[in-house]
Amino acid sequence: MSSPRTLAAPAGVRITGTGMAIPSRRVTNAEIEKLVDTSDEWIIQRTGIRQRHLCNNGERCSDLATSAVGQALTTAGLQPTDLDLVIAATMTPDMASPTVACQVVSNLGAMPCGAIEINLACTGFVAGLNTAANFVRSGMYRHVAVVGAERLSGLVDWEDRRTCILFGDGAGAAIVSGSDDPTQGCVYQTIHSDGTKSRDLYVPRVDADVMDREAFNGKLGTLQMNGREVFKFAVSTIERYLTRAMEACGLSPSDVAMIVPHQSNARIIESARERLGFSPEQVYVNIDRYGNTSAASVGICLHELMQGGRIKRGDTVIFIGVGAGVTWASSVWRL
Ligand code: ACO
Repeated sequence: MSSPRTLAAPAGVRITGTGMAIPSRRVTNAEIEKLVDTSDEWIIQRTGIRQRHLCNNGERCSDLATSAVGQALTTAGLQPTDLDLVIAATMTPDMASPTVACQVVSNLGAMPCGAIEINLACTGFVAGLNTAANFVRSGMYRHVAVVGAERLSGLVDWEDRRTCILFGDGAGAAIVSGSDDPTQGCVYQTIHSDGTKSRDLYVPRVDADVMDREAFNGKLGTLQMNGREVFKFAVSTIERYLTRAMEACGLSPSDVAMIVPHQSNARIIESARERLGFSPEQVYVNIDRYGNTSAASVGICLHELMQGGRIKRGDTVIFIGVGAGVTWASSVWRL
């Protein structure tokens, strides 16, 4: 760990390593058919999801997060003790306290590295990436780990076919470090919220949390969702904020190597892609293999893109997340 206050601000910021972790238990749509009244065909047609990975008993969010950050450190060629800060994004921490971020630091032996947690649901990883870039760019920290990790299987009502088909467990991580190249870094970023729409996607813990008593027929402690409203909000927000980001940076679709959207529903992503004029190759989709892993999804996409050589130094990449709260965030990077 460096002495943060003595660091000079770096010329640029770069992503030096990535990692991901997925539980070994693969659950196909055929298996979901045995739990609720649905079909493989309906799930694929309406969401693009073919399978998801779910934690086994005893497997925790912090285990997935630790494994993803460990891999990201290895690909960055760093030791845990090189880290100055871990930012964990999750809505499914193992415990109310300590945080997943703290558990990652102790599991990896990165003490006394800082640890902060972001609870912005599916927006969490992009907000974490923005925060990490700002800390590194300011010269405050040299190496920051960002991890989005979720164990959504513990938050889903497995008798509710409107939600249980959608979600998966997993983690995706990135190491954000300083760079000597001033052209590298996060060149534009936003984080937003609108709590007046929270009733469309929320997890009531006790009776007093229930926002729409007449409509509520779910179970306390499980994710409640108005799918149609969330769908409309996601499509319009992704479109509007990708457009704003490109305008702010003076980019046209051909300048962008890759859009990395939160994986909520293949139809949501496809609708935004078509309307904004991107080719299918410019928008990354892996929801067919993992389902919606909330805060983990953008980190998992980033790792797969880096590992597969689909994005490289000099490329312009736009990350966009939309989720419960409701919240949304965008982040434009020159890699
Ligand atoms: N299998 C079969 N039929 C189903 C299922 C299912 N799993 N779920 C709903 N249906 C039925 C409904 O009952 C309805 O039947 P009806 O017409 O007889 O009433 C019909 O299918 C159509 O229902 P809709 O809700 O209109 O279906 P839609 O096309 O909107 O798809 C979906 C539903 C997939 C949930 C979609 O609305 C969606 O993806 N919304 C966004 C969800 C999302 O992204 N949520 C996560 C946000 S991320 C976060 O922060 C955690």
